[in-house]
Amino acid sequence: MQRVGVVGWPVEHSRSPVIFGHWFAVHGIDARYERIAVAPDEAAAFFADLASSPYTGVNVTMPYKALAAESVSADPVATRLGVANTIWRDGDGLSGSSSDGSGFIASLDDQAPDWRGAVGPAVIVGAGGASVAVADALVAEGCRVLVANRTADKAEAVAARAGAEAIALDALPDALSEASLLVNATSLGMDGTTLSVDPRPLPAGTTVADLIYNPLETPLLAAARARGLVPVDGLGMLLFQATTGFERWFGVKPKVDRDLRR
Ligand code: ATR
Repeated sequence: MQRVGVVGWPVEHSRSPVIFGHWFAVHGIDARYERIAVAPDEAAAFFADLASSPYTGVNVTMPYKALAAESVSADPVATRLGVANTIWRDGDGLSGSSSDGSGFIASLDDQAPDWRGAVGPAVIVGAGGASVAVADALVAEGCRVLVANRTADKAEAVAARAGAEAIALDALPDALSEASLLVNATSLGMDGTTLSVDPRPLPAGTTVADLIYNPLETPLLAAARARGLVPVDGLGMLLFQATTGFERWFGVKPKVDRDLRR
């Protein structure tokens, strides 16, 4: 039996074992996906020994994505972002990538295929780790990307890393009035909190994506839906980013089918 898993601290809440378990069954693969809890004082040794461990490959979550990128041969995306969430065997060594951005793009293609006809800029609100991955991926797709954040310095840092432009929060209504895509990359929308972005200036046909997946229908997505805009939920990104590891480790691109959305 092959062993893969997610390395983090803590990892108890990871949904990945369920996602991968589904794909193991669909593809008849004899493998186990483990939650690998590694304490901070053991993390450097864990990654140093990973190539000689029994694992076929691992995903990496908080707080080790940056350490993972330093510990393996980072691909261009992981190098640009300075983080890796997917590690696989490559000859005698290990390689790593960050699949959040490609997962986001795949989720857009799945839930809002017309987004590719967009002409206006993509506006991202929020400037954490998820924001920079999404900004980088959208820039790679040829989009003009604007980043706004409560803490302006962090928007500047994301923009600089991803090749996007930082804008002030008070410039947001004007930016939204010409946007083709709005992305909520803040943590607002979880547990009843609301994102203080007013979607009313958005043009008809705009795609509105939330990276939050709990709840699936955030206040922002509900407002977008009520206005006839195109909502994209955050569960899609979670599911599609996982396909990268599966394909690297088992050589098959798994499908994000309806059963995974239950
Ligand atoms: P992740 O790694 O998932 O992207 P994160 O790094 O914790 O998450 O980033 C959370 C984002 O939500 C940040 O952009 C944060 O804004 P600050 O950079 O100003 O902290 C944003 N955020 C969280 N709470 C917020 C609030 N009450 N109002 C506005 N933005 C908020």
